[in-house]
Amino acid sequence: MRVVSGIQTTGNLHLGNYLGAIKQWVAMQDQGECLFFLADLHALTGNISPRELANSTIEMAATLLASGIDDRAILFNQARVPAHAELCWILNGTARMGWLNRMTQWKDKAGKNREGASVGLFTYPVLQAADVLVYKATHVPVGEDQKQHLELARDIAAKFNTDFEVELFPLPEPFISKAAPRIMSLRDGSAKMSKSDPSDLSRINLSDDDDMIAQKLRKAKTDPEPLPDSFDALAERPEAKNLVTIFAALSDRDPQSVVTEFAGQGFGAFKPALADLAIAVLGPVRERLNQLLADREAVGQQLARGAERASALAEPTLKAAQKAVGL
Ligand code: ADP
Ligand code: NA
Repeated sequence: MRVVSGIQTTGNLHLGNYLGAIKQWVAMQDQGECLFFLADLHALTGNISPRELANSTIEMAATLLASGIDDRAILFNQARVPAHAELCWILNGTARMGWLNRMTQWKDKAGKNREGASVGLFTYPVLQAADVLVYKATHVPVGEDQKQHLELARDIAAKFNTDFEVELFPLPEPFISKAAPRIMSLRDGSAKMSKSDPSDLSRINLSDDDDMIAQKLRKAKTDPEPLPDSFDALAERPEAKNLVTIFAALSDRDPQSVVTEFAGQGFGAFKPALADLAIAVLGPVRERLNQLLADREAVGQQLARGAERASALAEPTLKAAQKAVGL
């Protein structure tokens, strides 16, 4: 199994990103051969400033390394492996306008202003197809919103194989991992924990120090009821349910086993236990992150080494695609 996954370069990472995405990538390293790339070429289709792009790429890479991505996986940034863009151009000859016009993400993101949208926003899914096909990926982790793009990558691969009478690209399958928990705001159990929430108390940032983590959890919104003995009984208590979900995800436990342990106790007892756990897990990640960010050039060098490993895998596929089309 070869898994390829693109990661948005974003700053201000928080506990929701860590439990809902980063931990899943770390775990994937044991399940297959993994290539993780920071999607800096994709970022150009939005409105990101050059400084923000450069900084967020290094920060995201450092966060992944601090969280446990290591040499079992290949970590690099897309722009440093030119085969992505080169194969994308070849596949632009295979993909059809009608296919791309049907992409709901294009329709959503361009909205009413199609004439003003970047061309890159339209062909984004072709670059995504190239991202995975260039490695002959067998599996691609996809969320609900990316299923249509994976279908498109399969359609492009199949049409290319047929048109040029080659068996070059395997059709990538969705990689289904253990369902990622959805972490809610600490101030409002009906809103997702997000970097765009104006209240800093709503989230735990991966850069927060131990005291800040404890303070935010102490101030987290809850209710006066003790914990029940069944996790399902928390259905109507979103804030309480969220704190239990966080406890379970941080300790790789089942939420029910957490509820069983704390049944009958109130949040006066649960919150300090949660704070201790969060600090024990996030403290070392933050310390490794700070060490890595103290030498950003070294992080860049790690990405460059990853790009070399990735290029070695991508080049033969690119050459074969060029040969198939007569280049
Ligand atoms: P944000 O919502 O803070 O802007 P992003 O949209 O950049 O975060 O998400 C980056 C990754 O983190 C995605 O894979 C997304 O599914 C995951 N993620 C973001 N917020 C949460 C959350 N509250 N709970 C679980 N996963 C999350
Ligand atoms: Na978002």
